[in-house]
Amino acid sequence: MRIAIYPGTFDPVTHGHLDIINRATKLFDKLIIGVAQDTGKNTVFEIDERLNLIKNQVTELTNVEVKPFSGLLVNFAKKENCCTIIRGIRVISDFEYEFQLSLMNKKLAPDLETVFLMTSSDYLFLSSSIIKQVSSLGGCIEGLVPADVAKALYKKLKGSR
Ligand code: COA
Repeated sequence: MRIAIYPGTFDPVTHGHLDIINRATKLFDKLIIGVAQDTGKNTVFEIDERLNLIKNQVTELTNVEVKPFSGLLVNFAKKENCCTIIRGIRVISDFEYEFQLSLMNKKLAPDLETVFLMTSSDYLFLSSSIIKQVSSLGGCIEGLVPADVAKALYKKLKGSR
């Protein structure tokens, strides 16, 4: 059984992430979405909220599990018997950071491969931060995140004003 992990902060999950998730499920027997608890990012959503927002989007994907993790990604990946780390690449500027991350992960766990999927052109400009910024300034994020994520974000940002 070939198990892959797609790690991220997912604060919040966007259609860009979901596009990668959908495509990765076709390449592996099982996909674990690893939601990082402590990435040093100041998250808008708590870990349970980030987990639930993703879980609600993947109910129809039978080979997907959504799990939190803390500490090193490679340790969690090994514990879950993953053979591959999936990462999405959007633009050339992602490459340098992703290259560094994958080399360090390879150093830490030589048996774990990183596979990069090119983000679909519709989502090349997306990031969780830009979604939060546009939403906080009253801009429309329809079509960029699932409707319940947009609703949760609106509620959260309204509460923090
Ligand atoms: N579509 C849309 N947006 C995408 C995307 C896609 N296909 N792929 C990435 N993004 C966005 C993310 O939403 C995120 O946006 P943000 O910065 O506005 O929040 C950004 O691009 C990528 O952020 P990045 O920091 O690269 O990744 P991440 O936050 O998703 O996850 C971890 C980083 C969790 C994988 C990494 O920090 C980690 O492995 N942590 C565990 C500790 C560890 O092992 N450290 C050593 C690693 S060598």
